[in-house]
Amino acid sequence: MGVHAELKLVEHDKDGVDLSFRTDVLRGLAERQKAIPARWFYDLTGSELFEDITRLPEYYPTRVETRLLEAYGAEIARLVGPHRAVVEFGSGSSVKTPLLLREINPAAYLPLDISGEFLRQSCQELAAKFPELPIIPVEANFMRAVELPASVRHLGMLGFFPGSTIGNMVPPTAVDLLRSMRDTLGDGSQLLIGIDRVKDIGRLIAAYDDSQGITARFNLNLIDRINRELDGDIPRKRFRHMARWNDIWSRIEMHLEALEDTAFTVAGRDFFMRRGETIHTENSHKYTPNQARLLLQAGGWTPAWQWTDAAEDFLIVLADASEFRSAP
Ligand code: AVJ
Repeated sequence: MGVHAELKLVEHDKDGVDLSFRTDVLRGLAERQKAIPARWFYDLTGSELFEDITRLPEYYPTRVETRLLEAYGAEIARLVGPHRAVVEFGSGSSVKTPLLLREINPAAYLPLDISGEFLRQSCQELAAKFPELPIIPVEANFMRAVELPASVRHLGMLGFFPGSTIGNMVPPTAVDLLRSMRDTLGDGSQLLIGIDRVKDIGRLIAAYDDSQGITARFNLNLIDRINRELDGDIPRKRFRHMARWNDIWSRIEMHLEALEDTAFTVAGRDFFMRRGETIHTENSHKYTPNQARLLLQAGGWTPAWQWTDAAEDFLIVLADASEFRSAP
Protein backbone atom coordinates (compact mmCIF):
# COMPACT_ATOMS: atom_id res chain seq x y z
CA MET A 1 0.00 0.00 0.00
CA GLY A 2 2.05 2.97 1.23
CA VAL A 3 2.17 6.45 -0.21
CA HIS A 4 0.40 6.96 -3.55
CA ALA A 5 1.31 9.47 -6.24
CA GLU A 6 0.57 12.95 -5.09
CA LEU A 7 -2.30 15.05 -6.43
CA LYS A 8 -1.11 18.60 -7.06
CA LEU A 9 -3.72 21.32 -7.13
CA VAL A 10 -1.50 24.34 -6.37
CA GLU A 11 -0.32 26.54 -9.26
CA HIS A 12 3.33 27.49 -9.59
CA ASP A 13 4.81 29.64 -12.36
CA LYS A 14 8.04 28.70 -14.11
CA ASP A 15 10.21 30.24 -11.37
CA GLY A 16 8.49 28.12 -8.77
CA VAL A 17 6.93 31.19 -7.17
CA ASP A 18 3.58 30.36 -5.69
CA LEU A 19 1.28 32.72 -7.53
CA SER A 20 -1.30 33.03 -4.83
CA PHE A 21 1.42 33.79 -2.26
CA ARG A 22 2.58 36.77 -4.33
CA THR A 23 -0.98 37.94 -4.93
CA ASP A 24 -1.87 37.70 -1.22
CA VAL A 25 1.29 39.48 -0.05
CA LEU A 26 1.13 42.34 -2.57
CA ARG A 27 -2.57 42.86 -1.97
CA GLY A 28 -2.18 42.61 1.80
CA LEU A 29 0.72 45.05 2.00
CA ALA A 30 -1.22 47.61 -0.05
CA GLU A 31 -4.10 47.73 2.43
CA ARG A 32 -4.47 50.39 5.09
CA GLN A 33 -4.13 47.81 7.86
CA LYS A 34 -1.49 45.62 6.29
CA ALA A 35 -2.40 41.95 6.56
CA ILE A 36 -1.14 38.63 5.21
CA PRO A 37 -3.14 35.37 5.53
CA ALA A 38 -1.77 33.07 8.24
CA ARG A 39 -1.54 30.06 5.93
CA TRP A 40 1.66 31.53 4.45
CA PHE A 41 3.52 30.87 7.72
CA TYR A 42 3.88 27.25 6.73
CA ASP A 43 6.90 26.89 4.51
CA LEU A 44 9.25 24.12 5.67
CA THR A 45 10.88 26.32 8.34
CA GLY A 46 7.53 27.68 9.48
CA SER A 47 6.05 24.19 9.71
CA GLU A 48 9.03 23.08 11.82
CA LEU A 49 8.75 26.14 14.07
CA PHE A 50 5.07 25.38 14.54
CA GLU A 51 6.00 21.85 15.65
CA ASP A 52 8.31 23.50 18.23
CA ILE A 53 5.42 25.72 19.37
CA THR A 54 3.28 22.66 20.05
CA ARG A 55 5.88 21.51 22.61
CA LEU A 56 6.03 24.85 24.49
CA PRO A 57 4.82 24.84 28.11
CA GLU A 58 2.60 27.87 27.41
CA TYR A 59 1.00 26.43 24.27
CA TYR A 60 -1.72 24.16 25.71
CA PRO A 61 -3.93 23.42 22.61
CA THR A 62 -1.90 20.60 21.08
CA ARG A 63 -1.31 18.85 24.40
CA VAL A 64 -4.93 19.09 25.51
CA GLU A 65 -6.34 17.99 22.15
CA THR A 66 -3.92 15.05 22.04
CA ARG A 67 -5.01 13.96 25.53
CA LEU A 68 -8.65 14.20 24.46
CA LEU A 69 -8.01 11.99 21.44
CA GLU A 70 -6.17 9.49 23.65
CA ALA A 71 -8.91 9.45 26.26
CA TYR A 72 -11.87 9.28 23.88
CA GLY A 73 -10.37 7.64 20.78
CA ALA A 74 -12.15 4.33 21.37
CA GLU A 75 -15.49 6.08 21.86
CA ILE A 76 -14.92 8.15 18.71
CA ALA A 77 -14.06 4.94 16.82
CA ARG A 78 -17.38 3.37 17.87
CA LEU A 79 -19.30 6.43 16.69
CA VAL A 80 -17.44 6.68 13.37
CA GLY A 81 -17.17 3.00 12.46
CA PRO A 82 -14.41 1.27 10.43
CA HIS A 83 -13.36 1.52 6.73
CA ARG A 84 -13.85 5.23 6.24
CA ALA A 85 -11.59 7.40 4.13
CA VAL A 86 -10.05 9.92 6.52
CA VAL A 87 -9.51 13.29 4.86
CA GLU A 88 -7.30 15.51 6.97
CA PHE A 89 -7.41 19.25 6.28
CA GLY A 90 -3.89 20.54 6.92
CA SER A 91 -1.64 17.54 6.86
CA GLY A 92 -0.83 15.07 9.54
CA SER A 93 0.90 16.29 12.62
CA SER A 94 3.13 13.48 13.80
CA VAL A 95 1.16 12.81 17.00
CA LYS A 96 -2.58 13.34 16.55
CA THR A 97 -3.15 11.63 13.20
CA PRO A 98 -1.72 8.23 14.23
CA LEU A 99 -3.86 8.37 17.37
CA LEU A 100 -6.99 8.66 15.28
CA LEU A 101 -5.94 6.23 12.53
CA ARG A 102 -4.95 3.56 15.05
CA GLU A 103 -8.36 3.69 16.69
CA ILE A 104 -10.72 3.87 13.75
CA ASN A 105 -9.30 1.31 11.27
CA PRO A 106 -9.75 3.44 8.13
CA ALA A 107 -9.76 2.28 4.48
CA ALA A 108 -7.61 5.18 3.23
CA TYR A 109 -5.95 8.35 4.46
CA LEU A 110 -5.89 11.56 2.38
CA PRO A 111 -3.88 14.42 3.87
CA LEU A 112 -4.56 17.80 2.21
CA ASP A 113 -1.93 20.49 2.66
CA ILE A 114 -0.71 23.61 0.95
CA SER A 115 2.93 22.84 1.81
CA GLY A 116 3.99 20.04 -0.55
CA GLU A 117 7.33 19.54 1.16
CA PHE A 118 5.87 19.08 4.61
CA LEU A 119 3.15 16.87 3.17
CA ARG A 120 5.70 14.47 1.66
CA GLN A 121 7.63 14.29 4.93
CA SER A 122 4.66 13.51 7.11
CA CYS A 123 3.37 10.92 4.60
CA GLN A 124 6.66 9.03 4.79
CA GLU A 125 6.46 8.92 8.57
CA LEU A 126 2.85 7.75 8.52
CA ALA A 127 3.52 5.11 5.87
CA ALA A 128 6.16 3.60 8.16
CA LYS A 129 3.64 3.40 11.01
CA PHE A 130 0.73 2.14 8.86
CA PRO A 131 2.23 -0.05 6.10
CA GLU A 132 -1.19 -1.49 5.14
CA LEU A 133 -2.95 1.84 4.77
CA PRO A 134 -3.30 3.55 1.36
CA ILE A 135 -2.06 7.11 1.81
CA ILE A 136 -2.99 9.62 -0.90
CA PRO A 137 -1.37 13.04 -0.41
CA VAL A 138 -3.13 16.02 -1.98
CA GLU A 139 -1.25 19.32 -2.32
CA ALA A 140 -4.10 21.80 -2.29
CA ASN A 141 -5.49 24.93 -0.74
CA PHE A 142 -8.39 23.38 1.11
CA MET A 143 -10.31 26.65 1.29
CA ARG A 144 -11.88 25.53 -1.99
CA ALA A 145 -13.81 22.31 -2.54
CA VAL A 146 -11.45 19.56 -3.67
CA GLU A 147 -12.35 16.75 -6.04
CA LEU A 148 -11.22 13.57 -4.30
CA PRO A 149 -9.76 10.72 -6.38
CA ALA A 150 -12.25 8.23 -7.84
CA SER A 151 -10.56 5.39 -5.93
CA VAL A 152 -11.99 6.63 -2.60
CA ARG A 153 -15.32 8.14 -3.63
CA HIS A 154 -17.32 5.01 -2.82
CA LEU A 155 -16.08 5.07 0.79
CA GLY A 156 -17.72 6.76 3.75
CA MET A 157 -15.80 9.95 4.54
CA LEU A 158 -14.51 11.31 7.81
CA GLY A 159 -13.09 14.83 7.70
CA PHE A 160 -10.44 15.47 10.36
CA PHE A 161 -9.66 19.08 11.16
CA PRO A 162 -7.72 19.20 14.43
CA GLY A 163 -5.61 21.94 16.00
CA SER A 164 -8.29 24.64 16.05
CA THR A 165 -7.14 25.73 12.60
CA ILE A 166 -10.75 26.81 12.04
CA GLY A 167 -9.93 29.57 14.56
CA ASN A 168 -7.51 31.16 12.09
CA MET A 169 -10.47 32.24 9.94
CA VAL A 170 -12.92 35.06 10.59
CA PRO A 171 -16.38 33.52 11.12
CA PRO A 172 -17.69 34.15 7.57
CA THR A 173 -14.59 32.50 6.09
CA ALA A 174 -14.83 29.66 8.62
CA VAL A 175 -18.41 29.07 7.46
CA ASP A 176 -17.30 29.10 3.81
CA LEU A 177 -14.61 26.54 4.63
CA LEU A 178 -17.01 24.29 6.52
CA ARG A 179 -19.39 24.41 3.58
CA SER A 180 -16.67 23.56 1.08
CA MET A 181 -15.63 20.65 3.35
CA ARG A 182 -19.26 19.58 3.25
CA ASP A 183 -19.06 19.70 -0.58
CA THR A 184 -15.71 17.88 -0.68
CA LEU A 185 -16.83 15.08 1.67
CA GLY A 186 -20.43 14.67 0.53
CA ASP A 187 -23.65 13.24 1.96
CA GLY A 188 -23.32 10.85 4.86
CA SER A 189 -19.89 12.15 5.81
CA GLN A 190 -18.74 13.15 9.28
CA LEU A 191 -16.36 15.79 10.56
CA LEU A 192 -14.14 15.56 13.63
CA ILE A 193 -12.99 19.06 14.49
CA GLY A 194 -10.91 20.60 17.29
CA ILE A 195 -11.84 24.07 18.52
CA ASP A 196 -10.02 26.19 21.10
CA ARG A 197 -12.19 27.61 23.86
CA VAL A 198 -12.50 31.11 25.32
CA LYS A 199 -10.45 31.29 28.53
CA ASP A 200 -8.32 33.53 30.78
CA ILE A 201 -6.74 36.24 28.61
CA GLY A 202 -3.36 36.06 30.37
CA ARG A 203 -3.06 32.39 29.47
CA LEU A 204 -4.12 33.09 25.89
CA ILE A 205 -1.51 35.83 25.44
CA ALA A 206 1.23 33.65 26.97
CA ALA A 207 0.33 30.86 24.51
CA TYR A 208 0.99 33.25 21.59
CA ASP A 209 3.96 35.16 23.06
CA ASP A 210 6.04 32.47 24.74
CA SER A 211 9.03 33.13 26.98
CA GLN A 212 11.47 31.29 24.66
CA GLY A 213 10.53 33.48 21.70
CA ILE A 214 9.62 30.56 19.43
CA THR A 215 6.31 32.12 18.41
CA ALA A 216 8.20 35.34 17.65
CA ARG A 217 10.52 33.41 15.32
CA PHE A 218 7.48 31.71 13.74
CA ASN A 219 5.91 35.11 13.03
CA LEU A 220 9.16 36.76 11.85
CA ASN A 221 9.89 33.78 9.55
CA LEU A 222 7.16 35.16 7.29
CA ILE A 223 9.48 38.11 6.55
CA ASP A 224 12.29 35.73 5.59
CA ARG A 225 9.91 33.79 3.34
CA ILE A 226 8.69 36.93 1.58
CA ASN A 227 12.27 38.15 1.09
CA ARG A 228 13.40 34.80 -0.29
CA GLU A 229 10.43 33.79 -2.45
CA LEU A 230 9.19 37.20 -3.59
CA ASP A 231 12.50 39.01 -3.97
CA GLY A 232 11.89 41.28 -0.96
CA ASP A 233 14.21 43.33 1.24
CA ILE A 234 12.07 43.76 4.37
CA PRO A 235 14.51 44.44 7.24
CA ARG A 236 13.60 41.73 9.74
CA LYS A 237 15.58 43.45 12.53
CA ARG A 238 13.26 46.45 12.35
CA PHE A 239 10.21 44.37 13.24
CA ARG A 240 8.99 42.73 16.41
CA HIS A 241 6.45 40.02 17.15
CA MET A 242 3.28 41.20 18.90
CA ALA A 243 0.31 39.19 20.24
CA ARG A 244 -2.86 40.82 21.59
CA TRP A 245 -6.41 39.89 22.56
CA ASN A 246 -9.25 41.43 20.53
CA ASP A 247 -12.33 41.11 22.70
CA ILE A 248 -14.87 42.27 20.10
CA TRP A 249 -13.86 39.44 17.78
CA SER A 250 -12.97 37.02 20.60
CA ARG A 251 -9.56 36.33 19.15
CA ILE A 252 -5.81 36.47 19.65
CA GLU A 253 -4.14 38.53 16.93
CA MET A 254 -0.51 38.31 15.91
CA HIS A 255 1.14 41.26 14.24
CA LEU A 256 4.59 42.22 12.97
CA GLU A 257 5.20 45.73 14.34
CA ALA A 258 7.65 48.16 12.71
CA LEU A 259 10.10 49.46 15.34
CA GLU A 260 10.96 52.52 13.23
CA ASP A 261 9.86 54.13 9.96
CA THR A 262 10.78 51.57 7.32
CA ALA A 263 10.78 51.45 3.51
CA PHE A 264 11.10 48.18 1.60
CA THR A 265 10.48 46.49 -1.72
CA VAL A 266 8.63 43.24 -2.50
CA ALA A 267 8.39 41.81 -6.03
CA GLY A 268 9.39 45.17 -7.51
CA ARG A 269 6.85 47.22 -5.52
CA ASP A 270 7.71 49.84 -2.90
CA PHE A 271 6.12 49.95 0.53
CA PHE A 272 6.48 52.19 3.55
CA MET A 273 5.55 51.63 7.19
CA ARG A 274 5.59 54.11 10.03
CA ARG A 275 7.04 53.23 13.41
CA GLY A 276 4.35 51.37 15.38
CA GLU A 277 2.44 50.37 12.24
CA THR A 278 1.80 46.63 11.95
CA ILE A 279 1.31 43.82 9.48
CA HIS A 280 -1.54 41.68 10.81
CA THR A 281 -0.39 38.09 10.31
CA GLU A 282 -2.80 35.84 12.21
CA ASN A 283 -6.15 35.60 13.96
CA SER A 284 -6.88 32.80 16.37
CA HIS A 285 -10.56 32.94 17.27
CA LYS A 286 -11.68 31.33 20.52
CA TYR A 287 -15.18 29.92 20.89
CA THR A 288 -17.55 28.90 23.65
CA PRO A 289 -19.11 25.46 22.99
CA ASN A 290 -22.40 27.14 22.03
CA GLN A 291 -20.68 29.44 19.56
CA ALA A 292 -18.71 26.49 18.16
CA ARG A 293 -21.89 24.50 17.53
CA LEU A 294 -23.60 27.49 15.91
CA LEU A 295 -20.61 27.92 13.60
CA LEU A 296 -20.78 24.25 12.59
CA GLN A 297 -24.52 24.46 11.94
CA ALA A 298 -23.99 27.53 9.76
CA GLY A 299 -21.39 25.60 7.78
CA GLY A 300 -23.65 22.63 7.00
CA TRP A 301 -22.63 20.33 9.86
CA THR A 302 -24.88 19.04 12.62
CA PRO A 303 -22.99 18.58 15.90
CA ALA A 304 -23.61 15.08 17.26
CA TRP A 305 -21.04 14.55 20.04
CA GLN A 306 -18.52 16.69 21.87
CA TRP A 307 -15.66 16.16 24.29
CA THR A 308 -13.78 18.62 26.46
CA ASP A 309 -11.10 18.48 29.21
CA ALA A 310 -11.62 19.11 32.93
CA ALA A 311 -10.04 22.58 32.68
CA GLU A 312 -12.41 23.38 29.78
CA ASP A 313 -9.53 24.52 27.59
CA PHE A 314 -10.33 22.73 24.32
CA LEU A 315 -13.28 21.17 22.53
CA ILE A 316 -13.56 18.31 20.05
CA VAL A 317 -16.83 17.98 18.12
CA LEU A 318 -18.02 15.10 15.93
CA ALA A 319 -20.59 16.41 13.45
CA ASP A 320 -22.71 14.86 10.69
CA ALA A 321 -23.08 16.38 7.24
CA SER A 322 -26.41 18.22 7.47
CA GLU A 323 -29.18 17.14 5.14
CA PHE A 324 -30.29 19.88 2.81
CA ARG A 325 -33.89 20.74 3.55
CA SER A 326 -36.23 23.37 2.26
CA ALA A 327 -38.40 23.75 5.36
CA PRO A 328 -37.58 24.08 9.08
C1 AVJ B 1 -2.90 25.67 15.50
C2 AVJ B 1 -2.68 26.73 13.41
C3 AVJ B 1 -4.54 27.16 14.76
O1 AVJ B 1 -3.86 29.64 16.11
O2 AVJ B 1 -3.07 28.35 17.66
C4 AVJ B 1 0.28 28.86 17.10
C5 AVJ B 1 -1.13 28.43 15.00
N1 AVJ B 1 0.01 30.50 15.76
N2 AVJ B 1 0.92 29.92 17.58
C6 AVJ B 1 -3.14 28.71 16.50
C7 AVJ B 1 -0.30 29.23 15.94
C8 AVJ B 1 0.76 30.91 16.76
C9 AVJ B 1 -2.38 27.96 15.47
N3 AVJ B 1 -3.11 26.91 14.77
